Amino acid sequence: MLIVSVTCVVGLQWGDEAKGKIVDLLTEGHDVVVRYQGGSNAGHTVVAGGQSYKLSLVPSGIFRSQVQCVVAGGVVLNPASLLDEIDGLTSRNVPVGKNLMISDRAHVVCPWHFDEDRLLDKLTGGEAIGTTLRGIGPCYRDKVGRSLAVRLGDMYREGFRDQIARIVPAKRQILAGLGATPDEIRLDADEIYEQYRGYADRLAPHVADTTAYLLDAVESDKRILFEGAQGALLDIDHGTFPFVTSSNSSGVGVSSGSGVPGRYVTKVVGIVKAYTTRVGGGPFPTEQDNEIGQHIRDQGNEYGTVTRRPRRCGWFDAVAARYTARLSGVDVLSVMLLDVLSQLPELQVCTAYELDGQRINHFPSHVDDLRRVVPVYETLPGWQEEITAVRRVEDLPKKARAYVDRIAALVGRPVGMISVGPDREQTIFAEA
Ligand code: IMP
Repeated sequence: MLIVSVTCVVGLQWGDEAKGKIVDLLTEGHDVVVRYQGGSNAGHTVVAGGQSYKLSLVPSGIFRSQVQCVVAGGVVLNPASLLDEIDGLTSRNVPVGKNLMISDRAHVVCPWHFDEDRLLDKLTGGEAIGTTLRGIGPCYRDKVGRSLAVRLGDMYREGFRDQIARIVPAKRQILAGLGATPDEIRLDADEIYEQYRGYADRLAPHVADTTAYLLDAVESDKRILFEGAQGALLDIDHGTFPFVTSSNSSGVGVSSGSGVPGRYVTKVVGIVKAYTTRVGGGPFPTEQDNEIGQHIRDQGNEYGTVTRRPRRCGWFDAVAARYTARLSGVDVLSVMLLDVLSQLPELQVCTAYELDGQRINHFPSHVDDLRRVVPVYETLPGWQEEITAVRRVEDLPKKARAYVDRIAALVGRPVGMISVGPDREQTIFAEA
């Protein structure tokens, strides 16, 4: 066993770092591309052959015919949305067959999970998490709780009808307890069974034991690319809890989500935007709720891929990115959307925080402390030149180069790629 190339791509902020583009670029050197956590809350945009595709559950490797795509067991799967995605791809002549493998261990998002998501976010008191309402948290909660969970593999078993019949009455009570009206609790066990059996039939050609497949792949020196969804600051254990998603969206999720031991990962690519965005609730120290934030939102088209919600925008936070780069074991950074910052007269980068009058360099573990920190900024000059056509580092305006170099120094990792536009070609490969 040689372990030639096992790469992990992980977002270092609050998601939406344009990971899909980098995964798509890196797939060329890989045999297998794996999604290992999250679900239909993710939205990855890939521009291939001049066309733009929005992916949610299907790995971004689907556009390369020689690549085996795997949705591993750590993902929570909404079968209807996965089937829609597959249909959308095939209707645009992207072949989806044996090249897409889905874990029989993946937990299934069921109709009640959407209602629970909606009702629970109202109950948090104070600021809502602002979930994507895709049933992600409730599905992961049932996974951990075990007794009311459904895994994809269950849908092919004789006992599946009984399993649904057992869960539905319990879910009716839970929903009623959460304040759902009788009208909202329209759960019919037979109807749900038939619907999900139908999904199971259609997904059957893709379903496999992906843990066994991936362990074989890694032991036979296949080149594997792990595609993280969301960003490390949304990690359930290490992010800005409770304003997080319900999976390990930092690099730590690779092994639990896929079954491949973390020690086999040979390279971790950390993706950051040249600034910071966040969707949903929770503290965001460098947020610019002003004309600068609006400028970034307009220039970067910062609206959610899944929900179309306007993203909150702000300056690059090096304290947060340094924390998540270390947490995810990042070797090299990709700096995305640098072109969005062109034309701003000056740029600010957060280099430290002040908490209760004390300067701190670490990322606070409690959300209340993060809410109270005051960012310490360093001001850098902006550049006015258009950079979307630049393809070499030495052709970037000096000030743009200095900005990227400063980010790298503050995060403590070299920059390997700089993105200056959505197309594959609009990428600068830097010496890392
Ligand atoms: P959930 O994952 O739908 O439970 O949402 C929890 C939090 O994570 C919310 O603040 C969402 O806006 C955020 N979130 C979930 N998925 C993504 C993503 O793919 N990009 C950015 N934010 C996300």
